[in-house]
Parts: sequence; structure tokens; C-alpha cells
Amino acid sequence: MAKLTIKDLDVGGKAVLMRADFNVPQDEALNITDDTRIRATLPTIKYLLDKGVKKVVLISHLGRPKGKPEAKYSLQPVARRLEGLLNEPVKFIGECVGDKVKEGIDAAAEKIILLENLRFHAQEEANDPDFAKQLAVLGELFVNDAFGTAHRAHASTEGVTHYLKSAAGFLLEKEIKYLGEAVANPAKPFMVILGGAKVSDKIGVIENLLPKCDCILIGGGMSYTFLKAQGKAIGNSKLEEDKLGLAAEILQKAKEANKEILLPTDHVVVDKIDNALNLDIVGENIPDGKIAGDIGPKTVALFEKRLQSAKTIVWNGPLGIFETEAFSKGTKKIAEYIAALDCTSIIGGGDTAAAIAKFNLEDKMTHISTGGGASLEFLEGKALPGIAALTDK
Ligand code: 3PG
Repeated sequence: MAKLTIKDLDVGGKAVLMRADFNVPQDEALNITDDTRIRATLPTIKYLLDKGVKKVVLISHLGRPKGKPEAKYSLQPVARRLEGLLNEPVKFIGECVGDKVKEGIDAAAEKIILLENLRFHAQEEANDPDFAKQLAVLGELFVNDAFGTAHRAHASTEGVTHYLKSAAGFLLEKEIKYLGEAVANPAKPFMVILGGAKVSDKIGVIENLLPKCDCILIGGGMSYTFLKAQGKAIGNSKLEEDKLGLAAEILQKAKEANKEILLPTDHVVVDKIDNALNLDIVGENIPDGKIAGDIGPKTVALFEKRLQSAKTIVWNGPLGIFETEAFSKGTKKIAEYIAALDCTSIIGGGDTAAAIAKFNLEDKMTHISTGGGASLEFLEGKALPGIAALTDK
């Protein structure tokens, strides 16, 4: 990697400011319902402790508060979970900048300190230089392990790097390695599976990966706009009317470049999506009044056949409404099939990662990204500001 990584730093006896992405889901009682992102930072924190740092000062955002404190977005529950996972005391300080914070860090008996949500200050998202400076005084070195936020040019991801020597943590390094290699140098055949609700979310990925891959397999909500563009009937299924032209253009481009785009050939349909009654399986054309919620068994077989020889698979976006039992089979079957293949399997974060977790297949995939938007932008071939800003080797 062309950027400094944590192993390039001499951290012994120093206070290290570490940006993590602790933006974790919580239930209404603020219990953390998925701590994957917290667990993913443990190797970096443990390494710093092993190397004898003076302090690890952790900073993060949680949710999207509007630049002022809101109790439901406090990082306090994360401090408690982190403490349990590390089996080390973690001091929580209810603010992230200012003299009191600095004094609190210096006076703390604990080596690990988590500060309050950065987004309680509007200057964080505005990448305000003064705010970045106020963060920078809290450490002598900066480590960024927040891959999930690397696509944001915020004070804690980009701004702070102007004032401290800055290196990637192990998680960031791992994400760059797997996502980067999959895109830059994939073992072939290279297959890309795309799903999820919107065509517009995946246009950049299609444009970047179509020339590099052997086949793009499309399912989920976005597939119906493509099917409609091919002249198929889609009933009441999700349609992005304003993206029909774009979908037709992509299909044409693929044809001219001799690249394959596979679309569903059958569907699981219902009358109403929130009421999975009158479940039916129909062929290519979806009858009037019916809504598709999942790919059908023929499509599963078609996709499996195409994936059989794959040496690299990148998957971003579920193939149906997997959260609903009746529409989960397509995503589940394809996930199980990939899990049993001898190939490099890279799962884009967000919903696809949640689906893989739901089906208990996390250990069977080569890499599951902790980034939703960040992994998408990476697959689009964009430079991520949080990575670009790190100190060059
Ligand atoms: C995410 O969950 O994708 C990251 O934590 C970034 O959050 P954001 O989209 O609110 O910037």
C-alpha cells in the first residue's frame, strides 16, 4: 500500500488518535443489535496496546444527528460494548473537543478512551479546519480504521490528517486489500452480482466493473427497470421510470462490448408486498397487478450455473426482500451456493452483509466489507478521501 499503515508508526509511549466507524444499529432501547463494526476494530486497538501506547483516543460518529447533541445518538453504549469485547476498561468522555476533554484524557487511568459523537458538532461534516485542529491536539499520531466512513471528507477523516502523521489501521488495510485486488487484479472468471432497490445506486459500479468482469448478474428491485427496458411486463413491480433510458443504454453497451448481463427469468410474486398472501411463481413476464419480491427458482439455477466456474465474485445488493421470509429464498440460495464455491468472494457491506449474517454464512466468505456507501464508491473506482488523505509512504 502506498500509504503509511499502522506498522510503519512508532507508537510506544504515545497518545494515538484513532478514527473508528462505530455507527452501529441499535434497537429502541438503544441496545446494539449488531456489533460487527466494533469487533472489526479490535485487532488495531489490541495491537496499539501491545506496542505500549500511552493512550488510544477513539473518535467516531453514530447516526446522523444534525450538528447538535441528541441522547439517542450517544456513543456511551458503544463504550460499554467495547469494554466487554476487549476485556479492558474503556473511559467514556461525553464530549469530543476542548480543554476539558484533553484534561480528561491526560488524567484517565484507563488506556482506552472513547469520546462522544463527532457529529454533535456541525464542523465535523463541514470538514472545518479549526475543528480538525482541535481533534488533532488529542493525539500525537493518527490512525484511521473507519473504512465505513472513508468516502466522507470530514474533519475526523480528512481534515485531521493535515496536522498529524496519519496511517491506516488493520481494518482499513484489509478492506483496501480485498476490495482493491478484486477490482484491479481479479482472478478470472470474475462475476459481479448486483441487487438492491435502485438502479441509480449501482450505475457507477456497473460502469466501472463491466469492462473488467465476465458477467454481471442482476436481481432485486433494480432488475425490474432493466426488464422493462427489455420490453418485458413487470406488473406493479418496482420501476424507476426516469432510469429506463439508462438501463437500455447499459444493456446496449454490454452487447456491443460482448459482455454478459444476466437478468431474472422468473419471479416470486404477490398482490401486495407487505402481505405475502397469494404467493406465486411466474415466468419472464409479470402479470398486471402482481409485484415481484424475489427471484424465482429458475433464476436461482441460471445464476448458479453462471457462477459455478467463478474465481472471483463481488456481490453488492440483495436479490430480493430477504428480510421477509417469503422473499428470502433467492438471496439465501445464492449465498449458500457461493459459500460452497472455491473462489474469492467479496461481499459489499450494508444490506448484503446483513443478509449473509442472517444466513450464518459470514465465515464462508473471503471478505465482508464493513462499509456500505464506502464499499460502493470503492467499487465505482472512486478515490476515497479518508484513504487518499493518509500520509504517503
Ligand atoms: C455508514 O454507515 O455507511 C457510515 O457509517 C457512514 O455514515 P453516513 O452515511 O451517515 O455518512
